[in-house]
Amino acid sequence: MKQKLIVGNWKMNGSLAANAALLQAIKQGLPADNKAGVAVAAPAAYLAQVQAELAGSAIGVGAQDVSQHEQGAFTGEVSAAMLKEFGVRYVLVGHSERRQYHGESDAVVAAKAQAALSKGITPIVCVGETLAEREAGQTEAVVKRQLAAVIHQVGHCVSELVVAYEPVWAIGTGKTATPEQAQQVHAVLRAQLAAASAQADRVPLLYGGSMNAANAAQLLAQPDIDGGLIGGAALKAPDFLAIVAAAQ
Ligand code: 13P
Repeated sequence: MKQKLIVGNWKMNGSLAANAALLQAIKQGLPADNKAGVAVAAPAAYLAQVQAELAGSAIGVGAQDVSQHEQGAFTGEVSAAMLKEFGVRYVLVGHSERRQYHGESDAVVAAKAQAALSKGITPIVCVGETLAEREAGQTEAVVKRQLAAVIHQVGHCVSELVVAYEPVWAIGTGKTATPEQAQQVHAVLRAQLAAASAQADRVPLLYGGSMNAANAAQLLAQPDIDGGLIGGAALKAPDFLAIVAAAQ
């Protein structure tokens, strides 16, 4: 069976002390024969700390955003080259909170994915519909439009992406997509990737949106759900470890 990938998105949470405690607990709690890929996407300010805490462990360092620009007069931005210096393996691009609160367009998200790839960092491309879009029957069209922009930009590198389906209405709401709802969208994304790359099967498709210890196993059992992007439950070691345990 394909390896599952579980990524914790800490969002704008944490402190030096809390991060150290959380990472210690996760490192100690991982099953000795863990078969899942595991990573945490930390705020940029803590990347050095997370890199040091995770040195020598199998847990990957992730970031939550990256600039589409290479360098220069872009106050507040962090470049892919900078992330690379801190051992970053994954970076989220196009999280719905970035699209919604920071006005990131499909084109900007695609440029960010390209910037990450150019420095050898794997972009985790987030797509997902709002409740209004789902109710209007636009789910498929929205996620396909969001993914198409990235596919178009990265060309032959499609198989190097990770894609995360995060229905906006399920994020932080306690309302999870049912395994069937999630699988339906994942199948659409898989077909879209397959049309662009002969190696589309390699692309991990993560589900995100109120994934927790209780619902992870059922979601991860779906044929096109290859892992999870975890928000709230990634901040508590027992919850995060239970999701990792469900991904073996
Ligand atoms: P929650 O797990 O808190 O719903 O967040 C999901 C998410 O946005 C992960 O990126």
